[in-house]
Amino acid sequence: MKYNFSDVVNRMKPSEIRELNKMASSPGIISLGGGMPSPETFPIKELTEIMEFVMKKNSDLALQYGNTLGINPVREQISKMLEKTEGIKCNMENIIVNSGSQQGLYELGTVLANPGDTVITEEPTYVGAVSAFSANGLKMEGIPVDHNGMKVELLEEKIKKLILEGRKPRFIYVIPTFQNPTGYTMPVERRKVLIEISKKYDVPLVEDNPYGQLRYYGEPVPCIRSMTGGEDVIYLGTFSKVMTPGLRLGYTIAPEPVMEKFNLIKQALDLATNSFSQYVAYEYIKRGIIYKQVELNKQIYRKKRDAIVNALKANMSDISTFSEPDGGMFVWVTVDKNVDTKQMIPLAIKNGVAYVSGQAFTTNGTQKSSMRLNFTFGSVEQLEEGIKRIRKTINESA
Ligand SMILES: Cc1ncc(COP(=O)(O)O)c(C=O)c1O
Repeated sequence: MKYNFSDVVNRMKPSEIRELNKMASSPGIISLGGGMPSPETFPIKELTEIMEFVMKKNSDLALQYGNTLGINPVREQISKMLEKTEGIKCNMENIIVNSGSQQGLYELGTVLANPGDTVITEEPTYVGAVSAFSANGLKMEGIPVDHNGMKVELLEEKIKKLILEGRKPRFIYVIPTFQNPTGYTMPVERRKVLIEISKKYDVPLVEDNPYGQLRYYGEPVPCIRSMTGGEDVIYLGTFSKVMTPGLRLGYTIAPEPVMEKFNLIKQALDLATNSFSQYVAYEYIKRGIIYKQVELNKQIYRKKRDAIVNALKANMSDISTFSEPDGGMFVWVTVDKNVDTKQMIPLAIKNGVAYVSGQAFTTNGTQKSSMRLNFTFGSVEQLEEGIKRIRKTINESA
């Protein structure tokens, strides 16, 4: 059989991270590549108890199809949790529960844009967003980030230019807190500018916030959705970093008209998100376990964040600059030398370490001398050794 594949899939490239994960799972390789939480943060005892409870008390509903937008008691708990943790005020009617926030990103691309349309992202941006938007046939225009996130002063000019070209962007996608891949956080002033520009040009603003609760140092910065004027912001959240990614639960908050369209697209995608996972999350929030777990995760990750930053200071400060994030899961390293981090990957694997190249987070092949390092998965010893191996690889590739 000769298969004729769609233009959309023919244009899509395999994710460097997925390819890398295959190599990085070989014994002896320290992986700083994937974006995985540490299994030591999984609340196994609590989840086992909850799962047994759900099966005993609620199996009729937990094993049944659920509402397309999500199970109402779960949506209600999410709304209460977000008010407590992020200061977000929203009704449960404005929440859709998805199979991870990754599915929320795909839905956005389908609901708010047509194939061939343009959206604005940060540059670099989350590789999964590139994949979700590409799968919808969208073009991405990146606005560079600095230590304070997206350079919003460039955004207005970009929007004006795109409008003149007849390519008005369909939405602006940002990860303002502990950005993936850079770890940078956008201060309040820039967040205000984003709200203003979004309103002025009538371009929806999308805030993706998987890492907001994982703050190890410093004062929290309010999420954009909670700020004055932020009521129309479309907000994505996830249980992946505060419960487990394996249960595949995320959510999107959006105004009523957008929610109606999410409802239609979600029916086409999978009818509804896993009911069992949702009932587990319901108990997990209602019993308050989520708040204790976040504190525990922070203790574990703070040590690892310090370990990787200290190892970078000891081994890499003479040849690179790197972020020193106050939270999240990633450090962004830019090597001074004219190193192509993508080309260097085979040598790094030979030396027993894996990372993701900067290019994987762009749509235009920039960020060649950068790399993203994950610090949540490996042990402190592995992080320290991993950085030494990266330094060795850079020396050898020079
Ligand atoms: C910025 C960002 N958005 C979305 C996701 C997807 O998360 P999930 O589908 O597990 O909820 C991730 C995962 O790493 C992420 O970093």
